Amino acid sequence: MSGGTAAEPGSTPGFGAETGGQGVVLAIETSCDETAAAVVRNGQLLSSEVASQIPLHQATGGVVPEVASRSHLVALRRVLEKALAEAGLRMRDVDVFAATAGPGLASSLMIGASAAKGLAVALEKPFIAVNHLEGHLLSPFFGLPDGIRPAVGLVVSGGHTLLVDVEGFGSYQLLGQTRDDAAGEAFDKVGKLLGLPYPGGPHVNRMAAAGDARKFDFPRSMLDSGDYQFSFSGLKTAVRYLLPQLAELRVSDVCASFQEAVVEVLVKKTVRAARELERQTVAVSGGVSCNSRLRMLLGETCEKEGLELLLAEPAVCTDNAAMIGFVAGLKWKAGEFSSLEADIDPNLRLAAS
Ligand code: KG4
Ligand code: ZN
Repeated sequence: MSGGTAAEPGSTPGFGAETGGQGVVLAIETSCDETAAAVVRNGQLLSSEVASQIPLHQATGGVVPEVASRSHLVALRRVLEKALAEAGLRMRDVDVFAATAGPGLASSLMIGASAAKGLAVALEKPFIAVNHLEGHLLSPFFGLPDGIRPAVGLVVSGGHTLLVDVEGFGSYQLLGQTRDDAAGEAFDKVGKLLGLPYPGGPHVNRMAAAGDARKFDFPRSMLDSGDYQFSFSGLKTAVRYLLPQLAELRVSDVCASFQEAVVEVLVKKTVRAARELERQTVAVSGGVSCNSRLRMLLGETCEKEGLELLLAEPAVCTDNAAMIGFVAGLKWKAGEFSSLEADIDPNLRLAAS
């Protein structure tokens, strides 16, 4: 496999630009509770492996950072080998090593970043640090023949709810975000209140399918706030008020009504942003974008409004390394390499607001 020449220790600005991103990227993602590796060649995904820690965290009903990072340490070698085997490649075929640099849990981020840097040093190849949020944001554009185009991006995950104006690769304007709980966090907290397994999101979605979404009139916080901010913590409180009567209620109705409240606010604000910014495309990503009701209402609303809707494929909605490899490939093409002395940043931001 063709690739760059040997990396200098430390910073490697501009290194590898001669290959213009044509070659093999091995990407690692360990920002929270999924140990993931992927191989991307010339913008095409060759393999994507994810080892989920969900069973490990079910006992505690949430992620314990030290448990997560130790589990990454154990799982990473196997995940890397599987990703390379699936791609039909060896470690020496890799031209660029990439890893998530943030945001996320510090001790988890350090495992993936250290591994990628170690491999880059040993094999004398460059290293590229990737923002996890940029990975989510751009995942709806994977594999599109004309690549990234101007859009309003909605990133809805367990840790973030962001509305972003995407002008092009690397050019993002934060329009708004949540003031309190992220959308996925609200799903998980409500799931926990209702006694559903961790993480609550997919279980609430499944239960909601059999429920009546109009049974409870939960608050649509900040729907008419006139800005692009969100707030979901009031919903969790509204569900908590119902708990004393839970035995007489149908959990599926609570799930469906809660889900409808979250989805309605997300869809209306996203579409309003597209209209106000005169963007023709809406791009939706992150774990919550797996939600079937969100996908359906986005589809219906965008069609009515004449907007193009790009939804991340379900396999790349939740945390994965394919999105990290894809962004790393674009950075490589742009000659944007990272220093081997670069730190991780648990609070890394996507863009200025
Ligand atoms: O993107 P992700 O894997 O991790 C973060 O970067 O946070 O998102 C995980 C979140 C969790 O809160 C999970 O409950 C939620 O995505 N989620 C869902 C669904 N599938 C995953 N929420 C609602 N409906 C779903 N089907
Ligand atoms: Zn994520």
